[in-house]
Amino acid sequence: EKGGYEHFMLKEIFEQPKSIHDTMRGRLLVDEGVIKMAGIWDHVEKFKNANRIIIIACGTSWHAGLIGEYLIEEYARIPVEVEYASEFRYRNPIITDKDVVIAISQSGETADTMAALKLAKEKGAFIYGICNVVDSSIARITDAGSYTHAGPEIGVASTKAFTAQLTILTLIAFKLGKHNGNLGNAEFMSLISELDAIPKKIEDVLSATHELTQEIAKDFIGATNFLYLGRGYNYPAALEGALKLKEISYIHAEGYPAAEMKHGPIALIDENMPIVIIAPKKGHYDKIVSNVQEIKARKGKVIAVVNKGDQQVSAMADYVIEIPETSECFSPIVASVPLQLLAYYIAVYRGANVDQPRNLAKSVTVE
Ligand code: F6R
Repeated sequence: EKGGYEHFMLKEIFEQPKSIHDTMRGRLLVDEGVIKMAGIWDHVEKFKNANRIIIIACGTSWHAGLIGEYLIEEYARIPVEVEYASEFRYRNPIITDKDVVIAISQSGETADTMAALKLAKEKGAFIYGICNVVDSSIARITDAGSYTHAGPEIGVASTKAFTAQLTILTLIAFKLGKHNGNLGNAEFMSLISELDAIPKKIEDVLSATHELTQEIAKDFIGATNFLYLGRGYNYPAALEGALKLKEISYIHAEGYPAAEMKHGPIALIDENMPIVIIAPKKGHYDKIVSNVQEIKARKGKVIAVVNKGDQQVSAMADYVIEIPETSECFSPIVASVPLQLLAYYIAVYRGANVDQPRNLAKSVTVE
């Protein structure tokens, strides 16, 4: 059932070209130039007239939500807030019937997310679900929603569900933006054809980085800390990269927006500190270059995720992982894949049980 892979996690990482494709199937109709999503379309006025969208989730799904904020604000120009379900539900949040609440949950059973949704519903908000498990508790209480068609995710560390969540959030942002006029037709057309090409790019990334990430992983088996940095769309991707590593390898890892480095974490940097930095060409590249200079001046070990043909960051980095160029909004999907592999191999070489890390459960049905 692991399809020849050593672990479900590796199988699920490799399933991503298919799971992303399946999530777009029937929704992204490039030739017709439309995105079809009944859940959105049937309630499009709710979204259009929303005061704001509040995204609620936990863990990896919360990271997807943060990227959703960048997507929906950039392309649909609707204000978005992203909240940890556990914080939202206990702080008497201000919610009205002009709010749209989107819950993101792979399992559809997370207790805090469920409770937060119930609260939002009681206060009159329109609630929308992005779940992977069909007919799960969250999927059942929402007013509408879109399933991620990632297929069953068995590995406790979420991988293909995360990139499927990003796919749905991208579709929602483009659809709303097109509808409310913030996303012009030419840009919409070029974005959707690029989105359509993402599964193929993920396939290329998997074959180009599978061995490389194993080589890199070998050098960091004894690490005790890691920093992950990224800016813009890739700041949440840095958070997610760090979460993957800590969950399965038990190495302490922290993700930061790269510019925040000088407000604290820079104090930690010395020759023993590995720093994964996501530095694609589109996305504040020059700023990232200076972050890398600051790290190298303190002898930190830089593992850089860059675009093919990159020169400036690559020249300074100790390890270079190349990914194909895409619009900035798609780069977290592409950049996440080698980071999943890196976390996976570090954990495997440390002898950890990657599919069932200690203390973690696949669905967290207690708060
Ligand atoms: C991370 C992970 C957890 C879940 C979180 C939310 O790899 O698996 O952080 O993302 O428990 O779970 P769902 O998405 O099922 O609500």
